[in-house]
Amino acid sequence: MALYTALVDTITTYSGLSPAAFFTIAALMFVVYKTVCGMFVDPEDYDAKKPVAATTTTATLPEMPAVSEPVQMGDVTEEELRAYDGSDPKKPLLMAIKGQIYDVSRSRMFYGPGGPYAIFAGRDASRALALMSFDPQDLTGNIEGLSESELEVLQDWELKFIEKYIKVGQIVPD
Ligand code: HEM
Repeated sequence: MALYTALVDTITTYSGLSPAAFFTIAALMFVVYKTVCGMFVDPEDYDAKKPVAATTTTATLPEMPAVSEPVQMGDVTEEELRAYDGSDPKKPLLMAIKGQIYDVSRSRMFYGPGGPYAIFAGRDASRALALMSFDPQDLTGNIEGLSESELEVLQDWELKFIEKYIKVGQIVPD
């Protein structure tokens, strides 16, 4: 009892608070400390978990095609280009404008199977793009007879492709 009285006296003398107020404030500070600590990860735990997380990610995504630098194809005939229409997920997705072939694999959602512009994949789509046409007859690199404005539209598409995609080759006659 003497110890309790001494403790209460000490608290009152040094903090100027009643024992009840002192313990309430101490308890609140402890809760705040624990809450803030809970927001951070122990550095050791973090380092220990990192490699596991990396392995798990790779292991759970085995079917994702590797995102790698586009492979240069060089000279390709129109017929050879058709094999790069996205039907084989292991092959890059290619598309040509004015005979220049671009790797459009990063836009598989546009040009891949089932995509809104899948018909352009594996083709020189110059005429279709110039005419803004989805007619299969326009799926050709032949731009003969196009008007000035249609050629301008095609030019805009070409600039967009040059900016966005990597050129990987050019179409050569069979
Ligand atoms: C109702 C008409 C159309 C609408 C609403 C439309 C809408 C769109 C949208 C929202 C995008 C995505 C743009 C981006 O995120 O960069 C796009 C891309 C594209 N559109 Fe259309 N489009 C239409 C007609 C056409 C037509 C007629 C053609 C050509 C025949 C065409 C060819 C393309 C191509 C090639 C891309 C992909 C460009 C790329 O690789 O970034 N679109 N379109």
